[in-house]
Amino acid sequence: MFSAATYTGRRNSLKNKGLKGIAIFPGNTESPMNYPDNTYHFRQDSNFLYFFGLDFPGLAAVIDLDSDEDFLFGDDATIADIIWIGPQVMLKDKAEKVGVKNCLPYAAFAESIEKAKKQGRTIHYLPPYRGENKILVHELLGIPVSQVVEKASVPLIKAIVSLRSIKDAGEIAEIEKACAVGYQMHVTAMKMAHPGEWEQRIAGTIEGIAISGGGITAFPIILSQNGETLHNHNHSQFLEKGRLLITDAGAESALHYACDFTRTTPVGGKFTTKQREIYEIVLAANNTATSLVKPSVTYLSVHLEVAKVIANGLKNLGLMKGDVDEAVINGAHALFFPHGLGHMMGLDVHDMEDLGQIHVGFDEEIQPVKQFGTGYLRLGRRLQPGFVITNEPGIYFIQALIDKWKSEKINTDFINFEKVNEYIGFGGIRIEDDILVTETGGRILGERMPVTPEEIEKLIG
Ligand code: GLY
Repeated sequence: MFSAATYTGRRNSLKNKGLKGIAIFPGNTESPMNYPDNTYHFRQDSNFLYFFGLDFPGLAAVIDLDSDEDFLFGDDATIADIIWIGPQVMLKDKAEKVGVKNCLPYAAFAESIEKAKKQGRTIHYLPPYRGENKILVHELLGIPVSQVVEKASVPLIKAIVSLRSIKDAGEIAEIEKACAVGYQMHVTAMKMAHPGEWEQRIAGTIEGIAISGGGITAFPIILSQNGETLHNHNHSQFLEKGRLLITDAGAESALHYACDFTRTTPVGGKFTTKQREIYEIVLAANNTATSLVKPSVTYLSVHLEVAKVIANGLKNLGLMKGDVDEAVINGAHALFFPHGLGHMMGLDVHDMEDLGQIHVGFDEEIQPVKQFGTGYLRLGRRLQPGFVITNEPGIYFIQALIDKWKSEKINTDFINFEKVNEYIGFGGIRIEDDILVTETGGRILGERMPVTPEEIEKLIG
């Protein structure tokens, strides 16, 4: 974990945001898979990790926004616990590691909130995303469970987004550790992309690499020859020569910082002409985004420039037609690129998505676009040094979407549906890197893994 001074500094920065009252942070608990003692891998809440760094279940914390006091709540392991799970770090030692002086039994968490309520103090909490914590907030604050998310403290959300959006050197180093593991995951997947190989075996192998790296996967692995399905977790197929394999996967570092990469590989190691033509467009889109990233540029504008690169490339192949700028204004590119260019990344792969995308990716100046395709953009606002973002353009041939647009005559001025029909069954291509916004531009995090057709073909051999 980071030093106690880092966590104390983060809590002090929150106290300097002008909020009054207390901020409460219920940590995550163990989450059962199929009976109470058979649990999923424990994942601590990222906001708890950011301010308190303690990667243990059964903790809660309070930051007093009106004083320099912070409180950690939890229970020390009983002898029965120790028999099953071994000796545990004592609560007072956990508190010391993160610079918290006040540590109390878990039951005192509710008592401290009761006391604050009686004193008429404002109690800020973040939107809970797990059932257990929704019920806990309901029990602590008397808010109906159905309203617990919407009644979360917007001032606290905004204050935390402003802190967590800017990654410090220690956080970047953690992300780069995750990137190094991600590199191994992807290079391994590429090398395994031979006819007859089972998708599941590749997915399992690279998940093992993530775990061997000291963390877990940052999100369930997306890996499929049916890459036109954007988040395809079905790995049941055997690889066939002539098809494309999309692998969208990342690891978490031991401190839970994420990486998130996508590569698209020709099964058997050689792109066909048709595949390579589309691949080159996606690569140009990805490289364009990297070149445009710099402070004060809106990510919405980068997304739209990338959409133009895609529309222009597809026009050159005869799949789109008409004026490229007009096509993008009308959202015609979204038939092929129906998602956003990228998102914030940090302690969460979609960083802070639990706090609400509207607060993380947008602001008064840049609001979400309602149009299909660009409407899925998770980050639109102006970039700042210290942001870590993903750059993940793609081109997909989604039969259901093509059929719908064709039958409803959507964007017929810009789409050559006859030509598009020739690509049904093509699958999809996505290329994703992670970028740090620096003072002057954007820096790809980690060693850039093979990305040109030549590099990929050479690697697969
Ligand atoms: N790479 C997975 C995602 O962005 O959702």
